[in-house]
Amino acid sequence: MDIEKVRSRFIKHFDGQTGNIYMSPGRINLIGEHTDYNGGYVFPGAVDKGIMAEIRPNGTNTIMLYSIDLKDRVEFSVNDPKGPRATWARYIYGVVREMLDRGIAIAGFNAAFYGDVPLGAGMSSSAALESCFAFALNDLFGNNQLSKWDLALIGQATEHKYIGVNCGIMDQFASVFGQEGKLMRLDCQSREFEYFPFHPKGYKLVLLNSKVKHELVGSPYNDRRKSCEHVVEVIAKKHPDCNIKTLRDCNFDQLESVKAELNEEDFKRARYVLGEKERVLAVCDALERDDYATVGQKMFETHEGLSKDYDVSCEELDYLNDIAKECGIAGSRIMGGGFGGCTINLVEDSLYDTFIQTACEKFAQKYGHAPEVIPIVIGQGSHKVC
Ligand code: GLA
Repeated sequence: MDIEKVRSRFIKHFDGQTGNIYMSPGRINLIGEHTDYNGGYVFPGAVDKGIMAEIRPNGTNTIMLYSIDLKDRVEFSVNDPKGPRATWARYIYGVVREMLDRGIAIAGFNAAFYGDVPLGAGMSSSAALESCFAFALNDLFGNNQLSKWDLALIGQATEHKYIGVNCGIMDQFASVFGQEGKLMRLDCQSREFEYFPFHPKGYKLVLLNSKVKHELVGSPYNDRRKSCEHVVEVIAKKHPDCNIKTLRDCNFDQLESVKAELNEEDFKRARYVLGEKERVLAVCDALERDDYATVGQKMFETHEGLSKDYDVSCEELDYLNDIAKECGIAGSRIMGGGFGGCTINLVEDSLYDTFIQTACEKFAQKYGHAPEVIPIVIGQGSHKVC
């Protein structure tokens, strides 16, 4: 990312002094979609793109923010009970409130920031923004007393309480904990995780951004979560001795046993989640054997499930998936929440150029623009730059 870009704007839009610069990344997810809020596994990694912010305490009680990308300025008082209207500033307001609630004595500061992770592409630009400010404010006002998990949970609470998206923990976790060249398998129930070095020989990971903007606020995302919770309630009632709290605790037989009590939509959604839970584990096994053919196969299966059962795809993403199959690449699927954004593709080196060219041409013919090609570099989690 471009340190000069943030520094020059910080100097220009505030009092000419400099502050500390922090960066937090967006993320990819190899497999394990819509499993985080169901107590399942996810397999994300941070990317080399994200949010970079320069911040300096200003000795007052006013927080002064400048969004370089939007050329927009917002100010609010640290004790403001309502907070700003602009959505971008509400993310930062939420982080500040959550940190105050955890006893961090945040006072006024100036901040300018920009991002290079495409917005609404399913790469967690909002988690990057939350974790960038959580990390920075913990450093500037909290003596780094909050743990990485605290920082991730602050971001998630911001989404729930100040934005209205009842997201899981994957995005904030990946943004805070990421390490260069490594994916992470997180058990969202126990919060245990492992780093997996990811350097697939003979393959590349690449994102194709359909540019269909996905917007989780007010989207059916929260409905998917409700469906899953409803199914859990029904199964738990039928099997009271099984201590069922999330879909993680359920199996296919239990789901079948309540089929008649569920509507078809809820049944299919739960069926997808149970399948995805198993696919993440199968992918971990396959990675241990360097068996990328299986990894890719599972990605295709996930796409099918997300499209047909979980119903979070769109025509453009299905089309990109069809092209991936036609080109014979190892694997491809929708990445992130869905409803637009990117596909993540696992591509043999020998097929890479043809795949990219074919996807760009065919997609452009049908939708009037080529997808954005984003080669994946697995980068570092939240950190202080200087
Ligand atoms: C969004 C949410 C995550 C997760 C994914 C789907 O990115 O923020 O918590 O649920 O969708 O896997």
